[in-house]
Amino acid sequence: MTRNGNTNRVLAVLTLLFSGLAVAFALRLWGRPVVLPPIPLVDPIFTNTATARVSLGLLLQTHGDTSDYDCYTCHDKKEPVKLKLDDQGNVVLPKEHSDLVMGHGSHNRNNNCYNCHDESNLEALQTRDGRHPKLAESSPLCGSCHGPTYDDWEAGAHGRISGYWDRKLGPFVRQNCVACHDPHKPAFPPRAPAPGPHLLHPIAQAAPPQERNP
Ligand code: HEC
Ligand code: HEC
Ligand code: HEC
Ligand code: HEC
Repeated sequence: MTRNGNTNRVLAVLTLLFSGLAVAFALRLWGRPVVLPPIPLVDPIFTNTATARVSLGLLLQTHGDTSDYDCYTCHDKKEPVKLKLDDQGNVVLPKEHSDLVMGHGSHNRNNNCYNCHDESNLEALQTRDGRHPKLAESSPLCGSCHGPTYDDWEAGAHGRISGYWDRKLGPFVRQNCVACHDPHKPAFPPRAPAPGPHLLHPIAQAAPPQERNP
């Protein structure tokens, strides 16, 4: 009888104790979690995976407007286009090509149209060693002058490869030079850096200076 009475008393005390604790926890008597300022979403400009440029190759793949590349809507197939040069030997562009910004290398080193375009067929390119790649397949043209960079690009150390690392598992995509570099002005423009990472834990804000014993 007394044992039962004791047990009941202990149970009652424990029930009271735990109810008290539950209330204390619910009221958060021992401090509240620090309210963090909301983390702003990263500007999509930094997560967008599109390349810097829309090349002819990409336009063809996505069925975009390729009319800029139909040279023979304006030019005559039978009449080779002569270059107009100024006193310094720079090409003087007509207003029809005023959207072209030329600047390949310092001192306009590589601005001669026929270093790259084929004068006997404007819709093709020409390399120094006599190959005639299509306008949309220009990477070998770039490679004919930029051999070391081209080798790096083929090996995956320059440019961008995405898809399967293990080629047996699936396809991979290698971006062409002109997906990043404008052939007429190839220097890669500077970009704003993406913001740094957000902290997962709050930094103890303005912690009060430690009291020192005198
Ligand atoms: C909207 C019409 C138009 C289109 C499209 C066009 N051109 Fe031209 N282009 C001209 C005109 C006009 C001239 C100046 C007259 C001339 O030399 O025949 C010119 C001049 C040129 C020149 C000589 C540049 C100079 O200033 O000496 C080259 C090279 C050339 N075009 C290449 C091309 C190539 C390559 C394409 C296609 C990828 C093309 N053009 C598409 C209108 C056009
Ligand atoms: C006929 C040879 C030749 C071809 C073809 C050629 N380049 Fe160049 N490239 C040059 C020269 C020359 C320079 C300037 C090097 C210097 O000034 O020190 C240069 C410079 C560059 C630069 C450095 C930035 C600059 O403007 O100095 C880049 C990037 C570049 N080329 C990319 C390309 C790409 C992409 C292609 C293919 C569309 C290409 N090149 C095709 C000869 C060529
Ligand atoms: C370094 C090589 C190179 C030189 C030099 C060059 N081009 Fe091009 N050009 C290209 C390539 C490659 C393309 C195709 C780019 C693409 O896939 O987007 C092109 C595209 C074009 C186009 C198509 C539309 C456009 O606006 O891009 C025109 C027009 C053109 N070139 C005219 C010229 C003229 C005129 C000159 C001389 C003043 C010239 N190019 C010099 C490599 C060159
Ligand atoms: C995915 C984008 C991308 C592709 C594809 C790409 N490049 Fe570049 N390239 C860059 C960037 C970014 C730089 C660095 C620019 C800087 O440091 O200012 C660069 C630099 C260069 C330079 C000058 C600096 C140097 O000494 O390497 C050359 C030349 C060049 N690229 C050529 C090429 C050629 C040729 C191809 C194709 C075979 C190619 N690139 C493909 C993004 C690309």
